[in-house]
This record gives sequence, C-alpha cells and structure tokens, in this order.
Amino acid sequence: SFQVQLKSNGRIIDVSEDQSVVEALEIAGVTIPVSCEQGLCGTCATRVLSGIPDHRDYYLSPAERAVNDQFLPCCSRARTSPLVLDL
Ligand code: FES
Repeated sequence: SFQVQLKSNGRIIDVSEDQSVVEALEIAGVTIPVSCEQGLCGTCATRVLSGIPDHRDYYLSPAERAVNDQFLPCCSRARTSPLVLDL
C-alpha cells in the first residue's frame, strides 16, 4: 500500500493493495471524474506535485510519463509515498 496527500488541506489518504487511487479518494470524499477506468481515456488525469507515480495506463506518452507531473489514478499507483496530488 501507499499514501496520497491532498495539496489543498494536507490530508493523507491510504491506498490499499485492492483499491485504486480513485476508489480511495472517493471514500475520503474526493470525487475524480472517470470514464473508462482502465487507463485508456485520460479523463481522470490528475496533477502530481511531488513523488513518483507508478504509471500503469495506456494513455500518457513515454515523454509525458517521464516528467511525472501527472498520472491516471483510475489505474496507476505510486513508486514513492506519499504522492502529493494537486487536489
Ligand atoms: Fe479513463 Fe482513468 S478514467 S484513464
């Protein structure tokens, strides 16, 4: 598991192995717009302010992935914890 942190209020949210970041945020009262929920459409794209995502989508280009300033929380996870999100 890993954690994400909300920039707006500093809140830290645990993401367990069996849930997506979108699901963990939803439980914490933060709704991310989603469509495919499979890493294909880009609808859920969220800015990353610090930390390194574990990109598991099919949407971002290799160059976009390498910058690590956004990720797709319906399917991607984190290599470092917490991942600070612009939320
Ligand atoms: Fe489609 Fe996340 S909802 S990429």
